[in-house]
Amino acid sequence: MNRRYRKTIIAGNWKMNKLPSEVKPFAEALKTLAPHAKWCETVICAPFVDLPAAIKAFKDSRVAVGAENLNENASGAYTGEVSADMLTDLGVKYVIIGHSERRQYYGETDVSVNKKIHAAIGAGLQPIVCVGESLEQRELGITLDLIKLQVTTALSGVEADKMRKIVIAYEPIWAIGTGKTATAEQANEVCCAIRATIRNMYGARIARAVSILYGGSMNEKNAAELLAQPDIDGGLIGGASLVPEKFAAIIATANQDQA
Ligand code: PGA
Repeated sequence: MNRRYRKTIIAGNWKMNKLPSEVKPFAEALKTLAPHAKWCETVICAPFVDLPAAIKAFKDSRVAVGAENLNENASGAYTGEVSADMLTDLGVKYVIIGHSERRQYYGETDVSVNKKIHAAIGAGLQPIVCVGESLEQRELGITLDLIKLQVTTALSGVEADKMRKIVIAYEPIWAIGTGKTATAEQANEVCCAIRATIRNMYGARIARAVSILYGGSMNEKNAAELLAQPDIDGGLIGGASLVPEKFAAIIATANQDQA
């Protein structure tokens, strides 16, 4: 973390978990356990149908609500899809874009990710853009080149003044939901390379201000070590964000005063 230059963000990614009726009890528990995180922005990204309940339940708190996906088109004949304006109209602030599960199961590519980013920022949403390598790609030694390509393509055509809205999440695919975390050094190396890519595209001042999160089996036990790394500005948390006690413990870690 480096709070002098950028925001610390702890974002939960509920994936396809929690019923709308389970949102309020979760929010009440989290508000009691993590009452006021002054130094860290807290976000809950929830399934579309949970969003109205989440907006309502977190209204009187500092927890922001995010979606897990959106359609890149503004409106029209796209049965079953949800637009950026629909999300902002509800009060949603963030949206996860290009999660590896969407790339793997729903055919999302760096190009569709780029279109979704434009749709999100056009509507005033803050994208949390996911990038990450597979185990095979890591073993081939192409991680940094691949990440650079993912970031460059995702941000293609995004103007400099929009960059303060964008959050990047580095999520090695082999660490997601597997209990296998990247070591803090491995994670920081890639986050540092992401920042270098942004520096090449937009210059040092903008690169210094972008929050870059780590995701992949982050939990209340390993959060402190990961967050102590200079280029890791927070976490995108799946499994551990479903349990208020665990998520609150990660928020508390991120909220600690920086030495
Ligand atoms: P995990 O998921 O924390 O359960 O590994 C992270 C993510 O996929 O965003």
